[in-house]
Amino acid sequence: MAGVSVQAFRRQGRRFGAGLVCSEMVSCAGLQHGNERTLGYLRISPEERPLAVQIFGSEPGVMADAARMVEDAGADIVDVNFGCPVRKVTKTGAGATLLEDPERACRIISAVAEAVSVPVTVKMRRGLANGSHACLDVGPRLVDAGAASLTLHPRSAKQMYTGEADHLLTAELVELVGVPVVASGDVTSRGRAQAILATTGAAAVMVGRAAQGNPWALREIVEAEVPDPSREEVIAELLLFVRETSRELGERRSHGFLKKFYGWYLGRGRFPRPFKQELVQLESLDEVEARLLAAAPGAAEVLERLEAELPGSEEDVLLDLPISIYGGG
Ligand SMILES: Cc1cc2nc3c(=O)[nH]c(=O)nc-3n(C[C@H](O)[C@H](O)[C@H](O)COP(=O)(O)O)c2cc1C
Repeated sequence: MAGVSVQAFRRQGRRFGAGLVCSEMVSCAGLQHGNERTLGYLRISPEERPLAVQIFGSEPGVMADAARMVEDAGADIVDVNFGCPVRKVTKTGAGATLLEDPERACRIISAVAEAVSVPVTVKMRRGLANGSHACLDVGPRLVDAGAASLTLHPRSAKQMYTGEADHLLTAELVELVGVPVVASGDVTSRGRAQAILATTGAAAVMVGRAAQGNPWALREIVEAEVPDPSREEVIAELLLFVRETSRELGERRSHGFLKKFYGWYLGRGRFPRPFKQELVQLESLDEVEARLLAAAPGAAEVLERLEAELPGSEEDVLLDLPISIYGGG
């Protein structure tokens, strides 16, 4: 998820049971131009693997070159974005627009699949307009072109994130293709995940927003009954996320980047609302850390334990990873 799936988020997802995590979407044009910020997305840490790195663009040759760079960086899967509804991306002919240009979409997938030896997968929406069934036309053609798996977020690009994901379409897509289909959209609990898997025949579910500030949702989906996290656990996990993100993006960039996460972790009735307001106004991450620890002093011990259990985090977290200026899929 653009602006969310930084390495700290992906590592956390793996710790809480995700079988596969995916990078933010990476601009193939940015990779082509050797843009330093874009290249930063290709820094991969061993313990987040298996990792899919997602690329977006509209030129088959440029996408193929980008895919080679992604493979060389150590990604286990190259995922191609045919879902992003954000104008900044669609106006360049990339993202969800490609669902309306199946011929070009197929040329992209053939070129990318030929360029790399790791599996090439596709993430797509149902289509551009509300009610569109474009995914059912394009999906099988993409498989013929070389896609090893399809992930469907069955909302239209126009819908953005409103309404509901229509997983009847996911079930139809499963019937049409001989590759695994991953269901994305509104997977918020184990019950929802089981219902979607049972009614669609999808091979897996993808969890997006439900995991923001709430990795425990992943554990619940994977393991069933898990108790709600204590205040100390929530604060410790947030502190760890703050520290890892700060190492990743640098203190200056993380300071702004992290603000949305405070609401995600501390909301859900876990802490009173003014607490988050207080945090976003603090001037430095040191102050944020001190304020969080003051709210749950027992979190220090939980954090120490979490850090001790992390495999080799000091060496593996890489500095100055960029954050995305794009958003959505
Ligand atoms: C902030 C945000 C950023 C996203 N960025 C991407 C992205 O870069 N690539 C992508 O394929 N999907 C992206 N998505 C879409 C999600 O992968 C997912 O399909 C969608 O949010 C529906 O799933 P959910 O209900 O579990 O959130 C993004 C979603 C959000 C909310």
